[in-house]
Amino acid sequence: MLRQQSESALRPETSSSIDRSALIAWYRRNRQRSRALFDMLIDENAYYSQPIPLRHPFVFYEGHVPAFSFNTLVKTALGAAGIDPELEALFARGIDPPTDHSPVSVPERNRERWPSRSVVEQFARAADARVIDALTRAEWDRPGHPLLDRAEAVLVILEHEAMHQETLLYMLHRLAWSQKRCPSGYRPRVDRAAPPSTWVEIPPGRATLGIDRGTVRFAWDNERPHHSEPVRAFAIERDNVTNAAFMEFIAAGGYREPRWWEPDDWNWLQREHIRHPLFWEERAGGWSWRGMFEPIALPAAWPVYVSHAEAEAYARWRGARLPTEAEFQRAAYGTPDGDERPFPWGSAPPDVRHGVFDFTSWDPAPAGSHPDGRSAWGVEDLVGNGWEWTSTRFAPFPGFRPMASYPEYSADFFDGDHFVMKGGSPATARELLRPTFRNWFRARYPYAYATFRCAKDLA
Ligand code: AVJ
Ligand code: FE
Repeated sequence: MLRQQSESALRPETSSSIDRSALIAWYRRNRQRSRALFDMLIDENAYYSQPIPLRHPFVFYEGHVPAFSFNTLVKTALGAAGIDPELEALFARGIDPPTDHSPVSVPERNRERWPSRSVVEQFARAADARVIDALTRAEWDRPGHPLLDRAEAVLVILEHEAMHQETLLYMLHRLAWSQKRCPSGYRPRVDRAAPPSTWVEIPPGRATLGIDRGTVRFAWDNERPHHSEPVRAFAIERDNVTNAAFMEFIAAGGYREPRWWEPDDWNWLQREHIRHPLFWEERAGGWSWRGMFEPIALPAAWPVYVSHAEAEAYARWRGARLPTEAEFQRAAYGTPDGDERPFPWGSAPPDVRHGVFDFTSWDPAPAGSHPDGRSAWGVEDLVGNGWEWTSTRFAPFPGFRPMASYPEYSADFFDGDHFVMKGGSPATARELLRPTFRNWFRARYPYAYATFRCAKDLA
């Protein structure tokens, strides 16, 4: 797959000492993986295509990632000269999608509006060379410096690229199969029977959310500072809701019954004629799952990938609800004796025994197939195999301060329309698997590798 050699020095839970060669190695590893993803595009038509209308075409991302790294670290934090002001600006934000309904097909239109691939690649190479030069030579770990304290700008660019690799993967997922190269040896995991729904009861206790600056090598602004929340007794499903379980909701007419849906979500179903999860396709022989490279007969035991709107409707139909962020945290990291641990399985660094993450697979695995990754309560697959929707709206923790090296990273999304997702997916880099990492999307965003499990109150 896209897995690269591990660097033991990069384990997120180890000391805060910043090792220059390890960070350079991480940067190179990132670049190599990004290049492998762009190499999957079969031709220029794919390069200028825009499989998710809300996002930019692929061409943007090939420029955006190195432009962001260059702008953030070299220009802004270190104060060095630019390369090309126009391209730097273009790839910082992109261009607004056209508002008219042009008859020209989207790749055609994008080809006129965006630079040629060779211009993008030349700029990317120049930005890359300057970033590597800065990583190699510059003083980028400066205590007390607003952008470079604890090497903040360096970690920002490294984690930013890792996140964009996930974006790229789920964009590639939507691209027509004929438009991308399939790596040799690809084989989806054999399915097995879906586990029956099983409730795990978690006694009342507390959950730590967030972390303080200085106690971890790096955390985004939305993870800071830490606080503790009481969590009432609750029950949570041991496994993610599987395709088989979600099928029952569809068979029961769930997508035709407004009472299970929030009014805005119901309107979305009507407007877009939504009848099933975006990852499902109805074919002559029955339901199939839209795999990255081919259709797969709907795998009963895989976690269902759905939007928050669909997850919430399903939970309501079951007489349950989504877990809160604090409940997820307690189910994943809490223990019966009250301690909290860095991973559901304890403190061992994440590896393939614990779950499906870090680009080891193009697809999820059957729910419950990683018993070594279980939490202290016996809850399965909390990290990996799909992000997990929570009922918590994305908002700042008390004491939030936007980070100087990227002030709009979180603050632009504190609008009440985004929900927190926790855990991680097959396309989430190992470095992002810390317990405080928060992801977020709008309720009706159906593209991400996101699943859920139900929760309910205990009397
Ligand atoms: C944190 C994954 C929601 O993809 O919109 C990348 C990450 N922010 N560049 C996104 C991000 C700016 C962000 N998510
Ligand atoms: Fe970005």
